[in-house]
Amino acid sequence: MKTTRILVATILVAALVFSFAGCSTSSTKLVMGTESGFAPFEYMDGSTMKGIDVDLANAIATEAGKTLSIEDMPFDSLLAAVEGGKIDFAAAGMTVNDERKLSVDFSDPYFDASQVVMVKKGSSIATADDLKNKKIAVQQGTTGDTLATAVSGATVDRPTKFADAVLELEQGKVDAVIIDSFPAQIYAAQYTDLQILAQPLDTEQYAIAVKKGNTALLATINKVIAKMKADGSLDALVKKYQDTLLG
Ligand code: ARG
Repeated sequence: MKTTRILVATILVAALVFSFAGCSTSSTKLVMGTESGFAPFEYMDGSTMKGIDVDLANAIATEAGKTLSIEDMPFDSLLAAVEGGKIDFAAAGMTVNDERKLSVDFSDPYFDASQVVMVKKGSSIATADDLKNKKIAVQQGTTGDTLATAVSGATVDRPTKFADAVLELEQGKVDAVIIDSFPAQIYAAQYTDLQILAQPLDTEQYAIAVKKGNTALLATINKVIAKMKADGSLDALVKKYQDTLLG
C-alpha cells in the first residue's frame, strides 16, 4: 500500500518535471508547430524547413524578441498541441473554420485559398458532382478531408501526408485528390499526367492558431501580418516561393 503510494507520488513528480521541461512557454523560445509536407507553405529542403509560413513565423519571432523553434508533426495533431501548450502557435496553411474556432483562437487571415480536385488527365471526373461513389484521397484532418467525407457514396483514404495521397492518384489507387490550390499547382507541375479541375470546391482563408486566450501572442502575430500586408512583403514572400517552386 505504502510503496504504491510512494510510487504514485514519484510518478506524479516525474510527470510534473517532464511537463515543465517540455513546456513551450519559455521566455526566449517561440515554438511553431506545422506539418512540413505542404509546399509552398512548409516543406523540407534537405534538412532545412522552408516556406511562406516559416518566413512569416520568423518575422513573428523577431517581433516578439524570441528565437523560433519548429515542431514538425501530423497535421491532425496541431490543434491539440496548441491547446495543450506543446507549441505556441500552429502555422500550417491552416484554414479558419467555426469548428476549429471552438478549440483555438485564430489570427487575422494571411492568405486566400481554395480546395480543388486533382485527377489524372483524361479522367471521367470533370466536376464536383462526378466525385460521387468515387475513391478520393486526402490528407487526414484537413478541410479537404471534410469535403471528401461529405461526398455521397465516396470511399475516402486519409494518409497523414499529401505526398502519399497524390502518389495514390498517380498509381491509380484512387480517382481523385482533394487538396489546397497552391500545393496542387506544385504537384501538377511535378506530375505532368495530373490536372486540376477548373472549378474549386470552396474558398478559404489561412490563419495562425494560438491557444485560446493568448491575446498577447495573437496581438504580436496580427501586428506582423498587418505590417507585412501593408508594406507588400507578404505578397513578395508568396511570389518568392512561387518563383522558386514553379519557376
Ligand atoms: N488548408 C487545409 C486545412 O486547413 C490544409 C492544410 C494542410 N497543411 C499542412 N501543413 N499539411 O485543413
